[in-house]
Amino acid sequence: MDEPGEIMITRRNLLKMGAASATAIAAPPFASAQEAKSDASSAASRPPVTIPLSIEVNGEVEHLEVDTRTTLLDALREHLHLTGTKKGCDHGQCGACTVHVNGRRTNSCLTLAVMQQGASVTTIEGLGTRASLHPMQAAFVKHDGYQCGYCTPGQICSAVAVLDEIRQGIPSHVSADLTARPQATAAEVRERMSGNICRCGAYSNIAVAIAEVAGSKA
Ligand code: FES
Ligand code: FES
Repeated sequence: MDEPGEIMITRRNLLKMGAASATAIAAPPFASAQEAKSDASSAASRPPVTIPLSIEVNGEVEHLEVDTRTTLLDALREHLHLTGTKKGCDHGQCGACTVHVNGRRTNSCLTLAVMQQGASVTTIEGLGTRASLHPMQAAFVKHDGYQCGYCTPGQICSAVAVLDEIRQGIPSHVSADLTARPQATAAEVRERMSGNICRCGAYSNIAVAIAEVAGSKA
């Protein structure tokens, strides 16, 4: 016999209660998804905000009008048609989009074009010419530092900057003595090039090409 006030919970009642609470929990996300969808569609219907951009690319001053959301990578490829710079991951993880910005290597997919107002950018097209390759480009060709070639522009831009960093005495994670001038050892070069992924696995030939330019051993 049940005590007074005690609720008799049958299996059927329990199932009903469960269904009711599941509906109550599910309702708010559905409502907020609808709201988010309507916010997104009203944002999509607004015209893009554009801004004039002056930027020096490979020695030429370029004047563009870009959507404020345009990355430097897309400005180079889509606006200036410099397609040597490659889009790999578009998330800063592969290094295919590496260019030099004011002399420093930069993942161009990770910076907005409008953040580089007035900057000086060098892409693979600006490093050398067909008739006169940059020594790093010539070394990659000589040592087969590629297979499909998709990562190669980023690898070469990075490698040129890596040797500059070493010449400037900038230490890396593997520099044993932070006060000593770093040398272009295999370990230093491999560490500094670790942000440039090669899906073809041409790493050993890339290392040989860089070592030749550095005058060191791979
Ligand atoms: Fe920029 Fe991969 S495309 S890091
Ligand atoms: Fe193909 Fe590097 S050469 S991804």
